[in-house]
Amino acid sequence: MDRLLVLDHPLIQSKLASLRDQRTPKHDFRRLLKELTALMVYEITRDFPVIPAQIETPLETTTGVRPGVPLVLVPILRAGVGMLDGVLELVPWARVGHVGIYRDHESLQPVVYYAKLPDGLAESWIIVVDPMLATGGSVAEAVRLIKESGGTSIRFLCLVAAPEGVALLTRAHPDVPIYAAALDRQLNEHGYILPGLGDAGDRIFGT
Ligand code: PRP
Ligand code: URA
Repeated sequence: MDRLLVLDHPLIQSKLASLRDQRTPKHDFRRLLKELTALMVYEITRDFPVIPAQIETPLETTTGVRPGVPLVLVPILRAGVGMLDGVLELVPWARVGHVGIYRDHESLQPVVYYAKLPDGLAESWIIVVDPMLATGGSVAEAVRLIKESGGTSIRFLCLVAAPEGVALLTRAHPDVPIYAAALDRQLNEHGYILPGLGDAGDRIFGT
């Protein structure tokens, strides 16, 4: 579990507990997911590169910092979209690429149905977002597509990770750090995370 960092801030953990609760209605689920994502992004961007910049205050000149490299967010459709607003709240200047992937219900293999990524990936800090890391197939495929388009500095941000998914992603892309709010126990026979929070896409979109 070398590449996994579990963010154990109490505010992150208490919001995660509410997200897991099956009684949480979708409007609260969306709000909590957005808030929790923003808290996680604050934590994982501590080493984001900045450059010095001259600032004119109303009184005099001083120095501050500005973003040093482009930031690209890549939500995995659908459920990753539920995390996007939370990230953009803190980094509204980021660019956004989309990768559409669903899991085949029988084989649990990822099926790619859409990909639109911005230019300049090679120079960018890239954060892939998806609430669930289950078998790991979906994110491993998303990272493969991003690398194929030139991306090199890639991180994965999720809420709940299963040990099976962490192992697969680490094997497939050992250079990609994984940030999660929780490392859960295991997958069930249908590839759902236990204890998990159910089907993230269904809970966000009410399907
Ligand atoms: C969910 C989730 C991840 C994927 C994780 O998407 O949002 O993308 O499953 O599973 P994996 O690690 O085993 O690949 P889903 O396939 O349900 O598609 P959806 O977001 O369109 O509902
Ligand atoms: N996708 C989900 O939405 N939930 C899981 O538990 C596993 C995959």
